[in-house]
Amino acid sequence: MTFCVCLKYTLLGIVILSYFLRKYAKGQKYTKKTLIENKVVIITGANTGIGKATAIDLAKRGGKVYIACRDEKRGEDALKEIKRESGSDNVHFIQLDLGSTESIREFSQKFHEKEEKLHILINNAGIFAPPQKKTKDGFEITIGVNHLGHFLLTHLLLDLLKNSAPSRIINVSSGAHKMVPIEKDDFMQTARQSNMNAYAKSKLANVMFSQELVKKLKHFSVSVNSLHPGVVHTEITRSWPLWDFILNIIFRPFLRTPVEGAQTQIRLAVDPALENVTGKYFENCKQAKVSKFALDHDIAEWLYKKSYELVKL
Ligand SMILES: *[C@@H]1O[C@H](CO)[C@@H](O)[C@H](O)[C@H]1NC(C)=O
Ligand SMILES: *[C@@H]1O[C@H](CO)[C@@H](O)[C@H](O)[C@H]1NC(C)=O
Repeated sequence: MTFCVCLKYTLLGIVILSYFLRKYAKGQKYTKKTLIENKVVIITGANTGIGKATAIDLAKRGGKVYIACRDEKRGEDALKEIKRESGSDNVHFIQLDLGSTESIREFSQKFHEKEEKLHILINNAGIFAPPQKKTKDGFEITIGVNHLGHFLLTHLLLDLLKNSAPSRIINVSSGAHKMVPIEKDDFMQTARQSNMNAYAKSKLANVMFSQELVKKLKHFSVSVNSLHPGVVHTEITRSWPLWDFILNIIFRPFLRTPVEGAQTQIRLAVDPALENVTGKYFENCKQAKVSKFALDHDIAEWLYKKSYELVKL
């Protein structure tokens, strides 16, 4: 074979391979036209990425969508964009810093003043390797925001969720939850080991809570499920330049776009077929297995009690 022909086949091979990798990366789409008119929704961290994509989608379906995020300016900007893209005016912003129990309590109070119902709570906000190490309350920040912040928020909103049953709590976890177990004595010191470790543990904590919360909500028709959105092109790696470069530049074509990454949580939020499904974990729009670490009921129970104490409930 001449050099030219060989090159041609190599390029053709690369194109075909990329096509299939891209197709695989995209994942499943939620295709039903389900409407959620008059349903009240909260999405944390909805100023960017899959949170924003989810907010736009649910607003289009007629939901009354509250977005919650830390930065006032970024929140207001996102609000405008979500309204524009969804064509809905029924979108609202309340400031929320998940790294501050005071801010979480304030958020809950403001929300209670505005609404008597809450049908869908999407615990979507997540941080990875942020520059600061501690939350305002002195918790290690990844566990503090990804897990403890959402833990407190969920509990403060439970009365409204129960009041609006059938209602749904959805936790955005990650396949990373399979990487490590949670150990009692080092739970709050995870960041000393590595950023990835802290992230993985915070995501395992998200999954583990289902068993405990599901038990508590057994009689209320409030479902709790968690999910892995897939590897998505987002800003979550923004404070870690090396990861940012590797993930967002080199692997860009093989990452899900935020709209693709939002599909699993959209399905969990609206699909009528999932009305009675609770305590489960989803990937790629389908139910999937959790790691064996997540099935450790002793640790799950311990973690629940510990978290309850830490956030002073
Ligand atoms: C979702 O997160 C909240 C707060 O961390 C927790 O109470 C709940 O049990 C979690 N549910 C799942 C399915 O992970
Ligand atoms: C969920 O459970 C209720 C009460 O048992 C039942 O009426 C309803 O049909 C179920 N929904 C689905 C989608 O299975």
